[in-house]
Amino acid sequence: MEAGAELEKALYYAKEFRDKVFVIKFSGEVLADAGIMDTVISDLVTLKYDAGINVVVVHGGSKRISSMMDKFGLKARFIDGLRVTDEDALEVVQAVLSDFNQRIVWNINQSGGKAVGISAVSGNLFTARKIRPDLGLVGSIDGVDNELVTLFTRNGYIPVIYPIGSDGEGNLLNINADHGASELACSLNAEKLVILTPVKGLLRNRNDENTLIPALTLSEAKNVLKESFITAGMKPKIESCITAVACGVKSAHIIGLKNHAILQEIFTEKGAGTMITR
Ligand SMILES: Nc1ncnc2c1ncn2[C@@H]1O[C@H](COP(=O)(O)OP(=O)(O)O)[C@@H](O)[C@H]1O
Ligand SMILES: [Mg+2]
Repeated sequence: MEAGAELEKALYYAKEFRDKVFVIKFSGEVLADAGIMDTVISDLVTLKYDAGINVVVVHGGSKRISSMMDKFGLKARFIDGLRVTDEDALEVVQAVLSDFNQRIVWNINQSGGKAVGISAVSGNLFTARKIRPDLGLVGSIDGVDNELVTLFTRNGYIPVIYPIGSDGEGNLLNINADHGASELACSLNAEKLVILTPVKGLLRNRNDENTLIPALTLSEAKNVLKESFITAGMKPKIESCITAVACGVKSAHIIGLKNHAILQEIFTEKGAGTMITR
């Protein structure tokens, strides 16, 4: 596409998305390389305060949690991409997530935005129940109360949420951040769910970025879930995109953390990662 046409398209998208909700998810991997955090934060601030999009951030911890567990002599284990979480592990998860949360909030504030950090226990954002006994204190979401989030977005804040929820008995539960992001996107009738991750998107061969799958329909995504090339952390991402699109979110995206991929994906026709639509 020539530059003029591309700019026109970007302006069209910018108009389309004003006042819409984008739920944007990333993990501790934004801190993996110097510079990634700054780029991502600057893109979030641009989307919120220049493009007028209601940006809501949900974050996990990923490898930061595993390495902190390691320091305390705890072994990280995953079943179907979900972290097995006992009481000790939950303490580490809480510590890492709340620390990371405040770093994100600080960075947004520092970049001229206004952010507020909360766990999903605040305002009963996520009520949850234990998924299965072998996963321990891991929750699936039963209910979402988005009132608090809406209060913040209406008043110029970017809410930054980490997905610790509670069940009816006062247990705190670790909720997969990809799943948390999609449930929240559904509840907010979001325009987009955007999942940022260290790889460029869904790859047919996870070691080769040239095998990127740029677009999938809902039914194609469901079929992909059954295929062997999706393992580890990618599985909850595809599940979340399916949940989001099935409940009415217009599109769900899995994209890389680097090179302003988020702006490319949102404001260009070609995009940068994997997009799932109905
Ligand atoms: N088909 C696939 N395409 C891309 N990545 C995949 C695929 N299957 C598994 N993965 C793995 O999923 C990882 C992303 O999940 P995860 O490590 O949980 O990231 P995050 O920290 O962003 O949640 C990738 O880094 C990659 O190693
Ligand atoms: Mg993950």
